[in-house]
Amino acid sequence: MPAAGRGPLRAPLLLLLPLAGAALCPAAPGPAPPRFNVSLDAAPALRWLPVLRRYDPAAVRAAVARVVGDRVPSWVRALLREAALALEPRLPQPFAGEIRGLCDALNLSLADGLLVNLAYESSAFCTSIVAQDSRGGIHHGRNLDYPFGDILRKLTLDVQFLKNGQVAFTGTTFIGYVGLWTGQRPHEFTVSGDERDRGWWWENAIAALFQRHSPISWLLRTTLSEAENFDAAVYRLAKTPLIADVYYIVGGTSSRQGVVITRKRGGPADIWPLDPLNGAWFRVETNYDHWKPAPKSDDRRTPAIKALNAIGQANLTLEALFQVLSVVPVCNNLTIYTTVMSAANPDKYMTRIRNLS
Ligand SMILES: *[C@@H]1O[C@H](CO)[C@@H](O)[C@H](O)[C@H]1NC(C)=O
Ligand SMILES: *[C@@H]1O[C@H](CO)[C@@H](O)[C@H](O)[C@H]1NC(C)=O
Ligand SMILES: *[C@@H]1O[C@H](CO)[C@@H](O)[C@H](O)[C@H]1NC(C)=O
Ligand SMILES: *[C@@H]1O[C@H](CO)[C@@H](O)[C@H](O)[C@H]1NC(C)=O
Repeated sequence: MPAAGRGPLRAPLLLLLPLAGAALCPAAPGPAPPRFNVSLDAAPALRWLPVLRRYDPAAVRAAVARVVGDRVPSWVRALLREAALALEPRLPQPFAGEIRGLCDALNLSLADGLLVNLAYESSAFCTSIVAQDSRGGIHHGRNLDYPFGDILRKLTLDVQFLKNGQVAFTGTTFIGYVGLWTGQRPHEFTVSGDERDRGWWWENAIAALFQRHSPISWLLRTTLSEAENFDAAVYRLAKTPLIADVYYIVGGTSSRQGVVITRKRGGPADIWPLDPLNGAWFRVETNYDHWKPAPKSDDRRTPAIKALNAIGQANLTLEALFQVLSVVPVCNNLTIYTTVMSAANPDKYMTRIRNLS
């Protein structure tokens, strides 16, 4: 796999000082994942094949089997085995075509390919932060926490999606998973998604899928591809019908362009923008509605807020944000990767794998 061509974090020790005493997870950041180009000018069924060649198909198939076997209730598997072919023409492009191409290349059934692309949408625990520095620069970071880290850490990749040979948008995902939970449209906006679990996930999701609602990670990617600026992105992410609830966190390029969108399936439940003139220079979203207290059993919000305040708005950089996302339990045993990004400086998009043993 190609090296991602990223240097080590600059001056990490200096930046650790404001957080002295806090446990870090892990003390040394892990490696960057490989970075690949995927050309949107190629047909959907073919465009992932050059990337896929860099992976062992048996390992990817085993990962799919384990995630689907563990995460997907048997009635859903049975239903999709029957319904996959009927559902396929109803699914939006390019996702349906890309999944079909991946399934053919990996010798996976279409049902399993679809299920693994839906399965990650339940039981992801995450932290996202959008913040404005004292010069008006917008910084965005996220931890993606999910089970199966032993497999998924090795299948994580950064992807540059090319249109006409130019990077149209960048995202971080797992090979075989065509949606995005993390991404950047250069010079325009960045987006991350955090799970908002309302229960009865599969029941609701499958019904909504048949009604042509969008999977969460597909809307995120479509927005990166099609929304031309921050405002257009927020509008789409807030309004487009989804198969499940979610938090979308969006960062722009100029002052006050940062927001947490709390989504119901049908539309927005709440819009929570940065308000730096009133001291709200950051927003932290984990997996709980921001207007309610975080549960004591899983409070990653309070430590993140403390770490941000320790750094201070004047000292905010992407490197400092990375350190905030490294504080335990913001970073924890389930954390697979950390990404920090700033749409105004697209070359600084940086992912690090966490907890790689
Ligand atoms: C593809 O999978 C089918 C069913 O699991 C199996 O019978 C077949 O041998 C596989 N083909 C290849 C080329 O691995
Ligand atoms: C990916 O695409 C970019 C933009 O066209 C190009 O500069 C870069 O060399 C490509 N990387 C690889 C590994 O092909
Ligand atoms: C920025 O960091 C320095 C060194 O840690 C500290 O002295 C200063 O108070 C910080 N600034 C703010 C605004 O927190
Ligand atoms: C993380 O894993 C380590 C080693 O297995 C364990 O000692 C520690 O208690 C775990 N931490 C949490 C927060 O679960």
